[in-house]
Amino acid sequence: MKRVAILISGGGSNMVRLVEDMQAQGYASPVLVASNDAAAAGLEKAARMGVPTAAIDHRPFGKDRAAFEAELLKPILAAQPDVLCLAGFMRVLTPGFVAQFAGRMLNIHPSLLPKYPGLHTHQRALDAGDAEAGCTVHEVTPVLDDGPILGQARVPVEAGDTADTLAARVLVMEHRLYPAVLRRYVAGDRAPVLL
Ligand code: GAR
Repeated sequence: MKRVAILISGGGSNMVRLVEDMQAQGYASPVLVASNDAAAAGLEKAARMGVPTAAIDHRPFGKDRAAFEAELLKPILAAQPDVLCLAGFMRVLTPGFVAQFAGRMLNIHPSLLPKYPGLHTHQRALDAGDAEAGCTVHEVTPVLDDGPILGQARVPVEAGDTADTLAARVLVMEHRLYPAVLRRYVAGDRAPVLL
């Protein structure tokens, strides 16, 4: 059975959906949830679901990303994952880290990539007057929010939307998209999931 580790920074709602789906469907095993923030609410949720957790605070490392990643790597390597899923993990990873998981690291991003890599995606979609928004799951490459697209889900932008209302509508689709992509990915199928 494929082993899946998940990196989070916050509430971890996507992580919860991934773990729930793996546990219900049995196509992969969640072996670790790790965070750069010991206070991330998702860590407790993961523990309640029976998934081992780890926290490595990035702050003491300052700008030394490689030193932070060396510590983060320890629990990840110990868990021996086949696939690494970024789920609301808000640290930029160095090319060296990404290279260790080339072809087996996924990320979910709250925009229809290649539109709006980086932050404030929903506000940027609103400012551009886009008629639709959405989310993307992609393979991680050294370029931020780039890499082969493995799935996308679309939602309409509605009159009166704010970044928060749009984010909430997109998040509902993130929760459907990410497990669907992971299921396909561990089966070796990289055809994009389109919702
Ligand atoms: C999600 O909307 C995810 O797409 C986004 O953070 C949120 C995390 O929510 N990720 C990024 O912006 C990555 N750059 P969650 O912790 O409830 O899953």
